[in-house]
Amino acid sequence: MSGLVVIGAQWGDEGKGKIVDLLTEQAHGVVRFQGGNNAGHTLIVDGKKTILHLIPSGVLHRNKFCLIGNGVVIDPAILVQEITALQKQGCLKDDKQLLISDRAHVILPYHCAIDQLREAAKGEGKIGTTGRGIGPAYEDKVARRGIRMGDLIQPALLKKRLQEVLPERNRYLTAVLGGKAFSLDSILKSYVALGKKLKKYVCDGSEFLDLQIKNKKRILFEGAQGTSLDVDYGTYPFVTSSNTLGGAAAVGSGVGPHAIQNLWGVTKAYCTRVGSGPFPTELNDSLGALLREKGGEFGSTTGRPRRCGWLDLVALQHAVRVNGLTGLVVTKMDVLTGIKTLKVCVGYQLGNKILKTIPAHVEELDRCKPVYKELPGWTEDLSKVRRLKDLPRHAQSYLRFLEKNLKIPLTLVSVGPSREECILLKKPF
Ligand code: IMP
Repeated sequence: MSGLVVIGAQWGDEGKGKIVDLLTEQAHGVVRFQGGNNAGHTLIVDGKKTILHLIPSGVLHRNKFCLIGNGVVIDPAILVQEITALQKQGCLKDDKQLLISDRAHVILPYHCAIDQLREAAKGEGKIGTTGRGIGPAYEDKVARRGIRMGDLIQPALLKKRLQEVLPERNRYLTAVLGGKAFSLDSILKSYVALGKKLKKYVCDGSEFLDLQIKNKKRILFEGAQGTSLDVDYGTYPFVTSSNTLGGAAAVGSGVGPHAIQNLWGVTKAYCTRVGSGPFPTELNDSLGALLREKGGEFGSTTGRPRRCGWLDLVALQHAVRVNGLTGLVVTKMDVLTGIKTLKVCVGYQLGNKILKTIPAHVEELDRCKPVYKELPGWTEDLSKVRRLKDLPRHAQSYLRFLEKNLKIPLTLVSVGPSREECILLKKPF
């Protein structure tokens, strides 16, 4: 048995979906362990684009299992839509390919309403949430008033849980947020129907994985969002509501930490962020706009333009440490082609001090000015390159600079959006 975790080392949108799709070839299956449909994982295979929000990015490989682990929060309506769309394109023909943990929490309509009303009331202090109910669903999980997939598929249990939790949520919605109350009967009607559709996939995910581990299967754990959005180690409070770090893979799928041998962190060759919050290397100029256009930097879940900037090694060193990364994946190298001089942030200037680590306080981080190292760019097209030594000399030295500073080996480099536009340097398992 061996386990590999693939997580985002930045603010999400690093291209994890493509990497997981590619590595699934060498795995027996893929597990999503946190987040919800705030994620948008884009895969381009044979020229066809597929965007996934909840189903693991291994789903295009017919014979590989895809488990949605207990750490994920599931909007059942979105999941049913995603399953139907995949089936229409010839995937998920075998129901046994998809598994959903009975302990995963359910996003209900009042979660989305709370998310959106709160965000609208915030004005300046907006987090820039995707408004998908992710935060309120995780809050309910921790507050012990959540509803889980195991409840959703049993109408009597679902009704009992809703009777227990809905009155209090409705009071909060109406009295505090000025919204409208939800009727128990209408929720019950649509969610019993959704539960019926999803019942065949629901199982004890931990028990399933235990069997895979005992049978020496290779398991890929797929993260969503990224390190800087982690609820503990991200730019709090401008973060998502789950732990996005490698360590969450064990808890969020029901395996022990020893089931994981390797953790690969995915970073773009530059940096992007969607939503509000500090971003020291942000480029609010024509170069930022160029990266956005060339990199197609528009959210795959909300369509929002992403903020773009130079690569930040201080943030990446933090990612190496808090995740315990054993390998580095660099994506979108092709987007940097044609930029004469590249900059990489190697420290933060705060007053008269140079910081090498990220301050915990966003107010301090906001005041940090990046200290840059300049590196020469390249002009050659990278998309056809399949060996590191065939990359332009300056592209190689850019990658070597990252490797040297982060002190972890480069394992994979992506030079274009399609599955085959990749240079794999290390075996994943
Ligand atoms: P939430 O997760 O929808 O509550 O959003 C919290 C913050 O995380 C916002 O800044 C979102 O833009 C950001 N976020 C959530 N999911 C993703 C993602 O998959 N990629 C990039 N940013 C995300």
